[in-house]
Amino acid sequence: PQEQTLAVIKPDAMEKHKDDIIESVKNQGFLITQMKETVLSREMAEEFYKEHKGKPFFEQLVDYMCRGPCMMMILSKENAVEEWRNMMGPTNPKEAKESSPGSLRARFAKDILENSVHGPSNLQHALEKIKFVFDDIGLGPNGSLQ
Ligand code: CMP
Repeated sequence: PQEQTLAVIKPDAMEKHKDDIIESVKNQGFLITQMKETVLSREMAEEFYKEHKGKPFFEQLVDYMCRGPCMMMILSKENAVEEWRNMMGPTNPKEAKESSPGSLRARFAKDILENSVHGPSNLQHALEKIKFVFDDIGLGPNGSLQ
């Protein structure tokens, strides 16, 4: 079935690899139905990653995610959630380079923290994160912040 997922190009990748990533996404057959560049506030980054609150890397993760712009995209395709996860590769680029050398993280990620891209792990998270980014924090066309 057609599905939607959220794809985030994180601040490390925005500096050098934004165009390559967008090109690869399109070549893989995804339709990008929304795309917005934004700088997350600390509060937004904390909320976005609330599942990771309390983990040892949480503060670093929040610092990293709000240090520069992110690209927020809604991707549409059959099995979009799983396909985008496969295209990103494993969280840790060391592992990605071994198991999925063509994946985005193998190609572009610096380390397990600065790993270039994000995608939700299941459909429920995908819908929740799309709503958060394009509705709740006001990036959508009818958003309250713009
Ligand atoms: P992401 O898939 O967006 O989900 C949570 C993020 O936390 C992850 O990508 C990395 O950016 C970061 N992360 C996950 N595990 C670690 C770790 N062990 N050390 C540092 N950062 C991590």
